[in-house]
Amino acid sequence: MNTITLNTGIKIPLVGSGTNTFGKENHDFKGAINNDTTELESALRVGYSLLDTAVAYRNESVIGLAVKRSGLDRSQVFLTSKIPGSPEYTETDQKVEETIHASLKALDTDYIDLYLIHHPWDNLEDIVRVWKVLENYVDKGILKAIGVSNFKVEHLAYLLEHSRIKPAINQIESHPSLWQDELIKYCQKNNVVVQAWSPIKKVSEEAKAQLEKIGAQYNKTWAQVVLGYQVQRNVVVIPKSTDPIRQKQNLELFDFTLSEADKAIIKTL
Ligand SMILES: NC(=O)c1ccc[n+]([C@@H]2O[C@H](COP(=O)([O-])OP(=O)(O)OC[C@H]3O[C@@H](n4cnc5c(N)ncnc54)[C@H](OP(=O)(O)O)[C@@H]3O)[C@@H](O)[C@H]2O)c1
Repeated sequence: MNTITLNTGIKIPLVGSGTNTFGKENHDFKGAINNDTTELESALRVGYSLLDTAVAYRNESVIGLAVKRSGLDRSQVFLTSKIPGSPEYTETDQKVEETIHASLKALDTDYIDLYLIHHPWDNLEDIVRVWKVLENYVDKGILKAIGVSNFKVEHLAYLLEHSRIKPAINQIESHPSLWQDELIKYCQKNNVVVQAWSPIKKVSEEAKAQLEKIGAQYNKTWAQVVLGYQVQRNVVVIPKSTDPIRQKQNLELFDFTLSEADKAIIKTL
């Protein structure tokens, strides 16, 4: 698996699997947890080594179960989780600590590879307070890397200025019609790796048709073109599929290079 190095020196796979509806009734984000690990186990079997979960997904325990059932060693899987950016979880330092411990317990692990603040909130000083608690857990070796999600330049700039340990990742929405070029440029200039969420599902039928045409030259599907475009600009992708064939296809991104002309077209989609 191709990797990219975080500002901590840790390597992270350039492709991981999203999980936000896995282990739930009807694959519904709000569905009851049913502990079904079928898709997670198949993702691990076809070659994923990064799983992206969050407290808000309520399925951290299913992810932990899948890792156990896969027979892989914990060290072979990169686990990301996220603390919600809401008072229920962040109001006091103690609440932040309790959230981290609840994640560890649910994931059935004694460390988490990457822990993100899921969303920013208006009080930037308060975000820094929460961040300091996360920094303490990096010092303890319990969180291996820490980062943020859905942060805009103004949030990230403040955190970069006021943190001892710089955010390693900003996980943001990025896909055709919302490439987020400026934010990505800012992150990469500041050594913050960008991860793209929902890289596939919001692609319009029109964009798909153009991506398909481009993909035909490389023997790739429209989805592989869109994911390939991201990894070729050093953006980590975390597509999610319930289908083992599509799961595998979404990993097959490193045997083609988009031409400058094709990248110029994709950029405009
Ligand atoms: N940080 C945040 O705020 C945030 C927000 C949203 C999501 N996320 C994370 O990002 C992950 C990915 O985002 P997402 O789950 O919203 O959407 P996504 O991965 O962009 O798209 C999932 C959809 O695309 C289909 N799909 C997957 N691979 C395909 C392929 N090769 N060809 C055609 N269709 C394909 C899937 O259908 P099939 O199952 O039928 O293949 C599914 O309907 C989430 O699971 C979650 O971990 C983070």
